[in-house]
Amino acid sequence: MCGIVGILGNEPVAPQLLDALRRLEYRGYDSAGIATLEEGELARRRAPGKLVNLEKELNGTGLAGTTGIGHTRWATHGAPTKTNAHPHQSEGVAVVHNGIIEHFRELRTELTDEGVTFSTETDTEVIAHLISRELVAGSAPRDAVSVVLKRLEGAFALGIIFSGKQDLMIGARRGSPLAVGYGETEMYLGSDAIALAPFTNRVAFLEEGDYVILTRGGADYFDENDKPATRDIHVTQATAYLADKGNHRHFMAKEIAEQPEVIGHTLSEYVDMATHRVRLPEMPFDFAKLTRLTITACGTASYAGLTGKYWFEKFARLPVEVDIASEFRYREAPLPENGLAIVISQSGETADTLAALKYCKEQGQHTLGIVNVRESSIARECDAILPTFAGPEIGVASTKAFTCQLAVLACMAIAAGRARGTLSEEQERELVGALIKVPRHVSEVLRHEDQLEDIAKSICSARDVLYLGRGVNFPIALEGALKLKEISYIHAEGYAAGELKHGPIALIDENVPVVVISPNDELYDKTVSNMQEVAARGGKIVLFTDETGADANGDSTFQTFRIPAAHCFVNPLIYAIPVQLLAYHAAVFMGTDVDQPRNLAKSVTVE
Ligand code: G6P
Repeated sequence: MCGIVGILGNEPVAPQLLDALRRLEYRGYDSAGIATLEEGELARRRAPGKLVNLEKELNGTGLAGTTGIGHTRWATHGAPTKTNAHPHQSEGVAVVHNGIIEHFRELRTELTDEGVTFSTETDTEVIAHLISRELVAGSAPRDAVSVVLKRLEGAFALGIIFSGKQDLMIGARRGSPLAVGYGETEMYLGSDAIALAPFTNRVAFLEEGDYVILTRGGADYFDENDKPATRDIHVTQATAYLADKGNHRHFMAKEIAEQPEVIGHTLSEYVDMATHRVRLPEMPFDFAKLTRLTITACGTASYAGLTGKYWFEKFARLPVEVDIASEFRYREAPLPENGLAIVISQSGETADTLAALKYCKEQGQHTLGIVNVRESSIARECDAILPTFAGPEIGVASTKAFTCQLAVLACMAIAAGRARGTLSEEQERELVGALIKVPRHVSEVLRHEDQLEDIAKSICSARDVLYLGRGVNFPIALEGALKLKEISYIHAEGYAAGELKHGPIALIDENVPVVVISPNDELYDKTVSNMQEVAARGGKIVLFTDETGADANGDSTFQTFRIPAAHCFVNPLIYAIPVQLLAYHAAVFMGTDVDQPRNLAKSVTVE
């Protein structure tokens, strides 16, 4: 979602701000803007659409100034127009904002009654006017911001500059992350370390409720009670991951291709490759004593959670509840004593997932996060984290983070099974042995990408596509459908194969491709029966199965894609790859913006 960057520099900062905004593009946005201090006066350029439009504005009219803020906006209040694009200004102040000011209508009425004229439909504009009101009344910038922060309700990160104050920038955080970057003689503000990566790898993170006063000489942090605070400077790895597509046409293609490596890396953190035993870090709870797992997440991460449910129930005999975080957070679910809440999030910043986590904490649950960004809000809130080692994921549609989440959940399920006495050491070795082979199987699938490209071409003209799966592969059907719709804009639905007769079968005709995810496991025959029901009604079947499955039923399909046979435990990690590639190539054929699909955001920091 919205991205923030700010620079107190020594050279004109507009080009650097633009560069940093490019690095924030992956979060999803639909307009952008920059404000600087030109000889002490606020000046700004804004444009709807992609950064290339802002670049044109800047090339046309230039923008001087060594102090500046920039923003990519994902529209919430008001259309993605130039007028609604950030920074927003009022007398003496310019503001960039990520998040939502919930009661902005009340504040707007209050200000309008005082004679303030609003020029945008955004919630953010109230912040600029509120700060300006304090400045005009004689407050110093820090005092003005401190007063206004106490009036704001909602989730936000802010970057603020002031006319006539070349050596000052203020950042604030409540609910949305914000990082401070330390240069030699420059200082930076950014939504994440990736935005700041070309400038510095020395980064500190604001804590919840903090604000920070930046000058070229350093940063002074204050907590929500205006008490000075110390925030540690970390050396981040973000520079190692400067957004680079390598030889790939899209980040998504690169991230799909990286999976053998990142799954391997993640597994190597949690299993002993030599002994085939799981090796989790010390946990602040005892798996043996857990009464229930509650897994919450959003989007693709929630499908990882659903896969985890099958594993935990089967191998650890542990009851599991899985829910999407936006529903879970408000339904006042009763949670048992000695329950463990697992939240799964690539970004670690998804607002609903964070809220679900807070609810679970309030209900006395142990909490564990499976996150890809270790400095994220969710990582900080949890009692324990088991990070995924996917590296930065830039494509909006999650791919490598998903399979790494599956890898972590698989290791946890084995550890839980061992601790609870429901898995023997021999079974543990068998399952770990199967996990260790996953990167090899994934590489094998990737080698046949051209076949998936052909299949994608053949389904591109469809208006609707159904995905069917059973058991542990049902979540992969859901994920396949989500991937296809989010990046190719072809309508797709994932169903449990057994549910076919309860509704979706009515949609089947010769124009509806049905992607059947069915390795030759103990449920294969049942899924194949459902597949025959589709075939009998003229549906075009695309079967993803292994050699045995293909030999048994490959001739009744429209297309069959063969996948290496593996232990049924690990099939979701392997079958995730063809569904990703199918969606990717469909999107390429459809000519969509694969890495930044319309209306979507990478990190959803508002409800
Ligand atoms: C957005 C992204 C998805 C992602 C979901 C959850 O919708 O586009 O790819 O799965 O958020 O994000 P998280 O960072 O919590 O995993």
